[in-house]
Amino acid sequence: MNTMNELTLNSPLDMHLHLRDEEMLKLVTPLTAETFAGAVIMPNLVPPVDSLRALEEYRYRITEAQGDHVFNPYMTAFFRNYTEDELADLKYEMLGIKLYPAGATTNSEAGVKAIDAVEPTFKMMEEMGIPLMVHGETHGFVMDREKEFLESYEYLAKKFPKLQITMEHITTADAVELLGRYENLRATVTLQHLIITLDDVAGGMLNPHLFCKPIAKRPEDREALLQAALDAHPSLMFGSDSAPHPLSKKECCGCAAGVFTAPLAIARLAQLFDAHGKLGNLQAFISDNAQRLYRITPPEKKVVVRKQAFEVPAAYQGHGQHVVPMHAGEILDWAVTSVS
Ligand code: NCD
Ligand code: ZN
Repeated sequence: MNTMNELTLNSPLDMHLHLRDEEMLKLVTPLTAETFAGAVIMPNLVPPVDSLRALEEYRYRITEAQGDHVFNPYMTAFFRNYTEDELADLKYEMLGIKLYPAGATTNSEAGVKAIDAVEPTFKMMEEMGIPLMVHGETHGFVMDREKEFLESYEYLAKKFPKLQITMEHITTADAVELLGRYENLRATVTLQHLIITLDDVAGGMLNPHLFCKPIAKRPEDREALLQAALDAHPSLMFGSDSAPHPLSKKECCGCAAGVFTAPLAIARLAQLFDAHGKLGNLQAFISDNAQRLYRITPPEKKVVVRKQAFEVPAAYQGHGQHVVPMHAGEILDWAVTSVS
């Protein structure tokens, strides 16, 4: 039943997720696995997930942590210059390869220093049909990093027309504009970038729990991202970029980048789409577009969201970890009421 007060989502997907490792992995994995049918797992562990063995072992730890939830972790490998044999082995065990410019964000020190030095790997990925996911930021002025990277996206999209490229967590109106221009370019967008601007991070009292990379931008950027999401732009997918850090790494001097949204993402998205009269487009944004673009069929999972109060916990704790989510302690208008 899809009335104005209730919606059933089929197999929601989170196309960009950080699950970390060890005790944090044990705390946060079930919080995604209970409401999502699958998620694309980022490889920026220390050391990075950049071999078949590391990837398979990481997947095993995730499936151990997810318990009985129906949930498919779509694995990714950390970009480096792989050999053809390595790519052939990895291809069927992962969804794609994630490229980080060296030093651009959390745990990206092993990333790429110069894009032109790695073109042979792009070429092989293109020929083998392996998607490329990119953290698209330069080392320029913080507000301009994504905009400056767009020319690299264009260069890659043109030079490797069969390479499927995902612009991860886009934050600017310019990126939205580029999205429609190349058939092989798609994008993910987070929940927070549909809701907040730089003002919410640093315009008043500094809010470490909204600090992430790329940093939230201007109102007109948020507006363009929101319109594309509400319209279920066919090349745009939901990717939370939910990135938990322990409280001690957020509420300190030298705050780590990352916003933790996984446990409330579906409810908050329902509230957002409802507020704009666009609930009917949420299914495409949160699952169908990703299924079509990546040619994946996630496990069956029906997630009912209903217009009713949901108090976001002040923190998620367990396994010796303590993580503060976005909207901590606030009351949302929509709630996930059943999963089957
Ligand atoms: C992510 C993290 O903490 O791993 N941080 C973030 O601010 N988004 C890395 C990333 O996706 O940039
Ligand atoms: Zn990320």
